[in-house]
Amino acid sequence: MNNLKSQSYKINRTDFEKRNQHRGFALWFVGLSGSGKSTLANGLQAKLFENGFNTIVLDGDNTRLGINKDLGFNDIDRNENIRRVAEISKLFIETGHIVINAFISPFEINRTLARNIISNEDFIDVYINSSIATCEKRDTKGLYKKARAGEVNDFTGISSPFEAPKKPDIEVRTDEQTPEESINYLFEQLKSKL
Ligand code: ADX
Repeated sequence: MNNLKSQSYKINRTDFEKRNQHRGFALWFVGLSGSGKSTLANGLQAKLFENGFNTIVLDGDNTRLGINKDLGFNDIDRNENIRRVAEISKLFIETGHIVINAFISPFEINRTLARNIISNEDFIDVYINSSIATCEKRDTKGLYKKARAGEVNDFTGISSPFEAPKKPDIEVRTDEQTPEESINYLFEQLKSKL
């Protein structure tokens, strides 16, 4: 017995969604470092904003600089990282937001955990698919170079595995499209879910 009781509030999710004129749900961007998750989250948020949608982006680099700064990159810490941000997503969904999550989420078990916390109806996983070769060539943050030199441990795709999603709800090939094309494609895919 933990002496806790879930509290309900006068203004509930239905009220928020009615006023927002759209539903709340989570998009979960999965992909390698450098695959374009943050770029697409940024562009999609701008497009949704222009069209009157309430959004928030949760991004791995940003949340790891704040609420998750005590976590590293071993398998246990990555799972805790995902657990916390999934719980945060759930709170924002309750207030009618579209939550765009951008996390490598390398393991199937991480994605299942997030889906279970958030609920199947409110969870859309989006595979931001770019080959490791392309991500490494881009190396926007210089981390692949460091990982190859042994200066970064447990680096996804180099010294820590990445389990590509087998049946994502949406897939975007960022090595075959421009960011604008990917953002427009995502927006079109979402229209039926708003
Ligand atoms: S996750 O695996 O736990 O989902 P998350 O998306 O939060 O990862 O953070 C990934 C970001 O942390 C990368 O974009 C990169 O900038 C940085 N990073 C630092 N060290 C690592 C590492 N060992 N593996 C992957 N990303 C790392």
